Amino acid sequence: MTPKLLMAAATLTALAGAPALAQNIDVGGELYQQYCSTCHGADGKGAGQLTEILTTKVPDLVGLSSRNGGIFPMLEVIHIIDGRTGVRAHGGPMPVYGEIFTRSSSAKGTYDQVLEARGMVLSLAYYLETIQGQ
Ligand code: HEC
Repeated sequence: MTPKLLMAAATLTALAGAPALAQNIDVGGELYQQYCSTCHGADGKGAGQLTEILTTKVPDLVGLSSRNGGIFPMLEVIHIIDGRTGVRAHGGPMPVYGEIFTRSSSAKGTYDQVLEARGMVLSLAYYLETIQGQ
């Protein structure tokens, strides 16, 4: 084997033995339980503890696709969670998570804070996509 091939083989072996990659961690599911379950329920069916004191009806989040002709409305969901963009920006009882996540970020510098906040919003949207129809 040439040195180059040897290097490639060594890299592949190292990758095969590497621990579970980061994308296998259910970031969205954990964030959901932390930030959303109080209103939307641990199972996403809309019966969290806070619904008892809220005057607005909290929708279930397992029927987002079925209410949208069977297609998960990814962009709308991202906008709703972020709360600062899209048609439903700044309204209703839902906290503006785009702002909350950016402010609570421990990252240094605005650039990294914005990236982290967007990653959190997107992870939540991906998670919601996985619980449709449950
Ligand atoms: C304080 C209670 C509360 C919390 C906490 C909350 N929500 Fe909501 N959410 C609501 C209410 C009330 C509505 C319906 C009114 C509206 O759309 O603003 C709603 C609507 C939504 C919708 C649109 C549903 C539809 O059928 O159109 C999505 C998606 C959503 N929330 C996701 C989330 C996610 C993700 C989190 C956590 C990051 C979260 N919510 C946290 C109260 C809450």
